[in-house]
Amino acid sequence: MKKQVLVTGGVGYIGSHTVVELQSEGYEVFIVDDLSNSNIEVLDRIEKISGVRPHFEQFDLCDRVRVQEYFQKHDGLEAIIHFAASKAVGESVENPLLYYRNNLVTLMNLLEAMGQYNVPSIVFSSSCTVYGQPEVLPVTEKAPVQEATSPYGNTKQICEEILFDSISAYAGSVRGIALRYFNPIGAHASAEIGELPVGVPQNLVPYITQTAAGLREQLSIFGDDYDTADGTAVRDYIHVVDLAKAHVVAISRLMEHNNKKPLEFFNIGTGTGLTVLQLVKAFEKVTGVDLNYKLVDRRTGDIEKVWADTTFANEELGWKAQSSVEETLASAWVWEKKIRNIN
Ligand code: UD1
Repeated sequence: MKKQVLVTGGVGYIGSHTVVELQSEGYEVFIVDDLSNSNIEVLDRIEKISGVRPHFEQFDLCDRVRVQEYFQKHDGLEAIIHFAASKAVGESVENPLLYYRNNLVTLMNLLEAMGQYNVPSIVFSSSCTVYGQPEVLPVTEKAPVQEATSPYGNTKQICEEILFDSISAYAGSVRGIALRYFNPIGAHASAEIGELPVGVPQNLVPYITQTAAGLREQLSIFGDDYDTADGTAVRDYIHVVDLAKAHVVAISRLMEHNNKKPLEFFNIGTGTGLTVLQLVKAFEKVTGVDLNYKLVDRRTGDIEKVWADTTFANEELGWKAQSSVEETLASAWVWEKKIRNIN
């Protein structure tokens, strides 16, 4: 029998890529998504890529009764990957309660149901944002968690604490892995699924591809006076498919009881830091497009530089990011051209 995994937020950007990888490894996937920031057509796309349509239900995981009914009905679930969350830093400053409710309550409802219905494994989407501006780079999992600079970042820290405390209280019956993502970019090689931001993109790569596609006039590069090679901020950009594969590895580690602690934390990045300008230049080189950009003031809340030490993830998980940044940017561009009907 196939192993059954619940993927919350499985219609979204990282979720949909992970569903494809899980299905190709033979898992039976159950998605719960409220479609608040995603499009139902993605299910058709997933089916087109993998030949399998995941099970799907649309509801809000903040609804505790609904969550319990769901687990009662689906008594074969063995693990959860919890993506469903709000993720825009700026929006979280304007509407913090939305973020605290969506991100904390959904996790609490799931953890409660895991105990009641004997679902032993959970993989949680965390973020390198928990490190703030690390003192030592590349940053390892042992670096201290620092005070969050936004309600969004704070929800990721609090969720890690909720996970830790709940898993400790379950005393062996529930185990978990928190994956701390660096900056996921790019799209599936089929160009059937990719990132589809609603409205004006807040993140760098969708802003680049939309500018290249003519939807945006000009990219603003936030800050040129950082203490970096060219003055622009440094991040660790990872291909979303590499990130998706890390989830499959994490799920199998938990299901096969290969975890060393009840709750483990892993950095999921490439290990290489690039400045914004280096990324823009790499995009121009692989696509042949001249990007219209200007250097402007720093964005509030941004940190100067962060990239991952991935040694622990590489050695313990036996996982390593495979794609070069050139391949990754090319995939983002193919996807953007496809959805905008550009040849
Ligand atoms: C942010 C969050 C991260 C979250 C991610 C996804 C923090 C510190 N980081 O990452 O936790 O998971 O969003 O929502 O809270 N940039 C420009 N011009 C633009 C857009 C971005 O120059 O139009 C720059 C930014 O200033 C930054 C880099 O590009 O230096 C990457 O920005 P972005 O893609 O928004 O990701 P982060 O801010 O790193």
